[in-house]
Parts: sequence; structure tokens; C-alpha cells
Amino acid sequence: MRSSALTLLTIVFSMGILSANASPVPATDILPSDKCPMRCSWLYQPVCGENKAGKQQTFTNECLLKTHNCSFPYDQYKLVHEGKCMGQ
Ligand SMILES: *[C@@H]1O[C@H](CO)[C@@H](O)[C@H](O)[C@H]1NC(C)=O
Repeated sequence: MRSSALTLLTIVFSMGILSANASPVPATDILPSDKCPMRCSWLYQPVCGENKAGKQQTFTNECLLKTHNCSFPYDQYKLVHEGKCMGQ
């Protein structure tokens, strides 16, 4: 009885260690600045991006578009064409 409880504890403990190893990135490590350490210049080389909703948005350059993609996983833009979007 006592030893089986100890065994169970040991199993739970090692499972905890295993799952910690399986996901080395802690849940707190989701800040955009940590996850997207992209360095973009502010060089004006506009590209037009479009999100899932079909909304078009001009980005100053492609690097900044990718940074946006990285910082806002729920608001992804894909590159439509180089240059400003129509009507912007
Ligand atoms: C942004 O992410 C979407 C979805 O992951 C992808 O389809 C798109 O190509 C990405 N845009 C850029 C410029 O990498």
C-alpha cells in the first residue's frame, strides 16, 4: 500500500519532468518581443498584404509584414503584391 503510493508518486513526478522536457518553452514566453525578435528597417518599400477577412493593408516593407504575422497569430496577412494597396 505504502510502496504503491510511493511508486505512483514517482511515476507522476517523472511524467512531470518528461512533459517539462517535451515543451521547453514556458507558457509565459509568448510575448511578441520574445517570440518575434525580428529587426526590420523602416525603409519605405511598401507591400500590400491581405488578411483572412479580405482586408488589405499596406505595410512599410515586407519585413514589417512578417513581424506583424509573427506578433499577431490571429491576424495573419499574406503578401498580395509589392507596392501600396489600391486606394491607400
Ligand atoms: C503570414 O502567415 C500566413 C499564415 O500562416 C501565411 O499564409 C503568409 O504567407 C504569411 N505572410 C508572410 C509575408 O510571410
